[in-house]
Amino acid sequence: MPQTRGPRPTTKDHVTTALTAAVGLDPANEDWVAFHRRFDHYFPALERLFRSLYGNRADWLEQLTALLVQSARSWHQRPAELKALDARQEADPAWFQSGSMLGGVCYVDRYAGNLEGIRQRIPYFKELGLTYLHLMPLFAAPEPESDGGYAVSSYRQVDPALGTMDELRELASDLRDNGISLVLDFIFNHTSNEHEWALRAAEGDEEYSGYYWIFPDRTMPDAFEKTVREIFPDDHPGSFVELPDGRWVWATFHSFQWDLNYSNPDVFRAMAAEMLFLANQGVDILRMDAVAFIWKQLGTPCESLPEAHTLLRAFNALCRIAAPSLLFKSEAIVHPDEVILYIDPAECQLSYNPLQMALTWEALATRDVSLLAQALERRHSLPAGTAWVNYVRSHDDIGWTFADEDAAEFGINGFDHRRFLNSFYVNRFPGSFAHGVPFQDNPRTGDCRISGTTASLCGLEADDPQAVRRILLAHSVAFSTGGVPLLYLGDEVGQTNDYDYAREEGHGNDSRWVHRPKYPAEKYSRRSDPSTPEGAVHAGLKRLAEVRAATDELGGTRLVPFHTHNPRVLGYQRPGESTLILALANFGDDLETLSAVTLSGFEPDAVDVLSGREARLDEGLVLRPKEYLWLRVSARQPA
Ligand code: GLC
Ligand code: GLC
Repeated sequence: MPQTRGPRPTTKDHVTTALTAAVGLDPANEDWVAFHRRFDHYFPALERLFRSLYGNRADWLEQLTALLVQSARSWHQRPAELKALDARQEADPAWFQSGSMLGGVCYVDRYAGNLEGIRQRIPYFKELGLTYLHLMPLFAAPEPESDGGYAVSSYRQVDPALGTMDELRELASDLRDNGISLVLDFIFNHTSNEHEWALRAAEGDEEYSGYYWIFPDRTMPDAFEKTVREIFPDDHPGSFVELPDGRWVWATFHSFQWDLNYSNPDVFRAMAAEMLFLANQGVDILRMDAVAFIWKQLGTPCESLPEAHTLLRAFNALCRIAAPSLLFKSEAIVHPDEVILYIDPAECQLSYNPLQMALTWEALATRDVSLLAQALERRHSLPAGTAWVNYVRSHDDIGWTFADEDAAEFGINGFDHRRFLNSFYVNRFPGSFAHGVPFQDNPRTGDCRISGTTASLCGLEADDPQAVRRILLAHSVAFSTGGVPLLYLGDEVGQTNDYDYAREEGHGNDSRWVHRPKYPAEKYSRRSDPSTPEGAVHAGLKRLAEVRAATDELGGTRLVPFHTHNPRVLGYQRPGESTLILALANFGDDLETLSAVTLSGFEPDAVDVLSGREARLDEGLVLRPKEYLWLRVSARQPA
């Protein structure tokens, strides 16, 4: 008689057995119960994702099992303080969508010297109302050139000039005690050429050569370069650089930043370990650097391939199991159709909003809000459980990432318009107020992007009388369309370009340093004097932050378009429970009028929550040049 056999063990059974053997998943231990629960919930997704990336390999299940054992160990080591945070955030998953979120970003060394200096600035961060602090890359990196730290030599070592991993952990904890989440980059597309893996690969070690895209000669590089775009043509043409031994390594960005090869599951596992390590130091949000580039396939542009999403989702599922409160922010500075694809609770819960950023500058230059209004109408809405990070500028250049198809609807030619914007912002266009600097000007392709601080691009350096108002107008948009507003610290006191960058070692040929000035101490010292531009900018921004935090309608990301029937005036509605905020912003240089008919969808009584002033909408509205209003109104009740 044949024996009746039980059901075949599933992948999950296999992994569970291995986990129990390796880490002893004790069912009586509360900590493991929590792990089990999340493992049960997220394992099926993780398995599916992992399998779709690596299922064609004989060892895929072994790899997946090893990944989970490693992650269970990481959970085991996760500090109690962070496990408590995991539980709190699980109970309040919408915490990052709250209207009181406010982000700040800075370089540790330039803004405060070192990690201890950052810790000492916590009182100021609180004064400003920050709840989110993005510290630019602070890990060990090559000297003098490291792309501002975006070439990481070890994810487990803080740059000794800035402090130690212990100090970072303490800082994260102090920030948390003050209601501020710590955001760090996860630079996972590439490592520096000084990372241990890269050093071994350079020596010819076979295992570590497999961590990167290294080829013996130009055959494959030539084939790939037929379809990939050049990112840093000033540094090297194409995407590959030659090694001393004659081999070629993929380097999308600088020659010292080597792209990791995620088609190798060892790389996935190694980077997952680094990710969970950072999570366990108390990092709340990882800014996922250069997400578009992480998967390569011959014959494609090697940007935003479907597998890039699968990879991010696999990392996300792993976090849900082993570091559940960790969130991802996507850095995809690409076509708006592609930006949106990274934003999902199962992928990146947060994303930069590069389109709104770029179009805010576009509207300031053209005094026409058509493209910006169109973007808010059709490209603002996000899946539930996610949020934008809205910024006026970042540490990077401004690239004109709008869709040519969108612009064409207004009869605008994308190529020509970008040329105009570039010449406007580098002050080659008659009447321009902006003092920007070109970045990666590529005469061969006509591509160019813009560097410059907010204040310099808004005309403060040129003493333009509207400069302060432009700075505030741009921020009023970032603070009210919905999502986390992100301030580049120092911009709140109107810091201008730092032309000395060209003399700094390792910075000379990268114009982005022009907008990464050192802590502007003098400007900060004038921040309480409203008669100075610093004081005016600071007061205006503080007002925006305070009012936003106190205005329920401005939480979340839901936005309803509003047609002002005036191309100089941007309008949008942020609906609340019974009232809504009607935001209006005059990008023009003159007084602009909105008629009573245009405003007739609302009850006539309105109040500007920023100034407290009342308005009668049935009399129409007049906005001064660069004036912005956040009007609390009610929808008109049917008579
Ligand atoms: C991101 C960073 C940028 C860096 C690049 C390469 O785009 O924001 O500063 O140069 O990645 O890591
Ligand atoms: C990003 C963008 C690119 C930008 C660069 C760094 O990944 O794709 O447009 O210029 O990094 O500045």
